[in-house]
Amino acid sequence: MPMAMQGPQAQQKPVQFTEEQTAQLAAYVASLGAGPAVPDEEMTNAAAGNAAEGGELFRVNCAMCHNAAGAGGALTQGKFAPSLEGVSEKHIYEAMVTGPQNMPVFNDANISPEDKQSIIAFLKNIEANGSPGGAELGSLGPVSEGLFIWTAGLGLVIAFTIWLTARSS
Ligand code: HEC
Repeated sequence: MPMAMQGPQAQQKPVQFTEEQTAQLAAYVASLGAGPAVPDEEMTNAAAGNAAEGGELFRVNCAMCHNAAGAGGALTQGKFAPSLEGVSEKHIYEAMVTGPQNMPVFNDANISPEDKQSIIAFLKNIEANGSPGGAELGSLGPVSEGLFIWTAGLGLVIAFTIWLTARSS
């Protein structure tokens, strides 16, 4: 804020206020009416959540936009869901209760505070553990994996056939 121009989705810009000023602004806005409070440390403690359960909840509620590994993805008409890597626990919680821009709101009736904690635990867990299955290719899924195997795999087959015919002559 403020938006540079009207568009399907506002771009992230450098932060204009200090942490303290942001907290003061939030306190003033909160004094004016109803709305979710800033989550406290207890609510955003990833260690208290269940990462396996959080993964299930994430795949049901978030993966269609953010990708199963939280790598982000394209949405319709130029909108996009950003990557969730490196996003703080507090910010993840706040995004769920406020639903920024094109993201839906997940209130406590939808996903309970404990389940939110589990989703945070899942995101922090995959962030800390990396990809045990080999090169993750940006975790972008079948398109990047298919492209890789077509280019590298077919390249290898072509190189092999060239080598074979070169030997026979
Ligand atoms: C309909 C698609 C959609 C779904 C479903 C969705 N999101 Fe989002 N999410 C978005 C979009 C779009 C943004 C970017 C909003 C913006 O830039 O202001 C976003 C932003 C975020 C952010 C802020 C990232 C940052 O770097 O600032 C977090 C955290 C997040 N989402 C977590 C979640 C979680 C957790 C769930 C599931 C409970 C979820 N989202 C479900 C579309 C979605």
